[in-house]
Amino acid sequence: MTEYETHEFDVVIIGAGGAGLRAAVEARAQGLRTALVCKSLLGKAHTVMAEGGVAASLGNVYPEDNWEVHFRDTMRGGKMLNNWRMAQLHAQEAPDRVRELEDWGALFDRTKDGLILQRDFGGHRYARLAHIGDRTGLELIRTLQQKAVADGIEVFMEVKAVRLVHDTTGAVAGLVGYHRPSGEFVVFRAKAVVLATGGVGKSWKYTSNSWESTGDGLAMALWAGADVIDMECVQFHPTGMVWPLSVRGLLVTEGVRGDGGVLRNSEGVRFMFNYIPPMFAAETADTEEEADRWYEDHSAGRRTAELLPRDEVARAINSEVKAGRGSPHGGVFLDIATRRSAEYIRRRLPSMYHQFKELAGVDITVDPMEVGPTCHYVMGGVRVDADTAATTVPGLFAAGEVAGGMHGANRLGGNSLSDLLVFGRRAGIGAAEYAAGRVGPITLDEGELEVAVCGATAPLGREDGESPYDIHHDLQETMQNLVGIIRTGSELEEAMAELDVLEERAGRVAVSGTRVYNPGWNLATDLPSMLTVSRCATLGAIHRKESRGGHTRDDFPAADPELGKVNFVQRIPGDADHTGGPGSCPSTRTISIAPEPLLVMPDELQALFEEDH
Ligand code: FUM
Repeated sequence: MTEYETHEFDVVIIGAGGAGLRAAVEARAQGLRTALVCKSLLGKAHTVMAEGGVAASLGNVYPEDNWEVHFRDTMRGGKMLNNWRMAQLHAQEAPDRVRELEDWGALFDRTKDGLILQRDFGGHRYARLAHIGDRTGLELIRTLQQKAVADGIEVFMEVKAVRLVHDTTGAVAGLVGYHRPSGEFVVFRAKAVVLATGGVGKSWKYTSNSWESTGDGLAMALWAGADVIDMECVQFHPTGMVWPLSVRGLLVTEGVRGDGGVLRNSEGVRFMFNYIPPMFAAETADTEEEADRWYEDHSAGRRTAELLPRDEVARAINSEVKAGRGSPHGGVFLDIATRRSAEYIRRRLPSMYHQFKELAGVDITVDPMEVGPTCHYVMGGVRVDADTAATTVPGLFAAGEVAGGMHGANRLGGNSLSDLLVFGRRAGIGAAEYAAGRVGPITLDEGELEVAVCGATAPLGREDGESPYDIHHDLQETMQNLVGIIRTGSELEEAMAELDVLEERAGRVAVSGTRVYNPGWNLATDLPSMLTVSRCATLGAIHRKESRGGHTRDDFPAADPELGKVNFVQRIPGDADHTGGPGSCPSTRTISIAPEPLLVMPDELQALFEEDH
């Protein structure tokens, strides 16, 4: 049996974005030996792309705000597909998690009275996003990182997790991965493992996600026997950069619109007024100011039409571009310069100012930005218990973007940062309690471990074969063109056929060189995860024959009330071949899908939707 570098902890957390850091802080606070394993450098996480703020009903700007309104906004934003219990806990606990972050050193912007300032974001009835300029995610990471290090959590940076490993009872009891710089394999034994690995955006061509977001946690959970839900629900943030091409997809925070920015087409028209629900569309207004005033009066407090939920704004932009009213580089114009002073823009949106100046040569205090939808977030994910973050496999927990249910079919901006604080903490507690109850030595399934290592190293031994870069490129084209913002049955079937071919090609992938500093090999080991999550998204999209939130079917343009009552659950049956796919992972063809009823919401919460709000 091969000897590997081996570590043992009570709780191991994979992923060091906001959810992972918050989970680690909590597990450590429970007195457990805790480790964080992250693929990238500590502090480099997609959390920083939640720029505009963290949603919590602090009531500092609108005292009438409270958890019930936040809960209702979240459920409505998610088109009622959300796990209601997660949405309830999230709305109830977010204010305390934000105040706690402040206690730990986060420097929020302030109101005149010295309270945490809150800004507008789409779908939130009140200005609710606590923020630090347009660098909220970054400050959240900085604060949690300092706390985690000060609390004595061991951090293993640049370790790519390849596979979860079970013990002899079938519970998850660790993982095998490799150090990215050296390529040496490393094994972690743990009484409980928390997945906090984030999302899946790197399977699409235009994305706000960085290289880390290859769906590793989601795929590893599925391979380990866990359920995943609603993977068809992928969010395209309405505003990514469209130019220059080298940075296409890079996020332009919703904070621009929250702070007064408006969207215009090539004719200079504020087109969002044409996409608001029919009850509003009949009205007319002579000036933009009149239209804004009228909309505020008629839209339950949403202050501009540009702040409709993200799915609606992204579809509207897509339609304008398709209708030939787009900007020169295939987006639309986001204009804040004509509505706010240069001083205000630089103070409130410093990163956006620099981003456009440096990357596109555009001064946003003078000229509009060109923006278009970008793959940003997956609402679907690993099925978890709301209270404990436990997955359907013993020993395995999940929090943050990798977990499904909280956001239903569409996430409201700012709800991801509060999600990862609330459920990061709950996952830390859940894992710690589970670990405390797990006695006796941890004996890993050595066979599973060896299969994982053999699969990961196989591309290095092949003489000729497919380039991982070509496969990744073709996967991104497939997902962007066939499983994008607007979907249709025939294209989804085409995508499935393409994914079959890509999986076969991934089985023949070959890389040259050694395991040391080898980005080609690193990408080759990411391909099984990317193919798995892409298959899940496509399969879910085929089965959800309706349009709901981030999932839009051209051939089923309306929401179907019956499908609004179910989650689509995907899993790999226990008797499937678990070594049949690339990297000795299960073939994506073994994934099954079936609808299962949503959890039933209790009457007192249901009543919140019956009031006239
Ligand atoms: O637009 C943004 O600042 C992103 C926020 C989020 O995804 O929550």
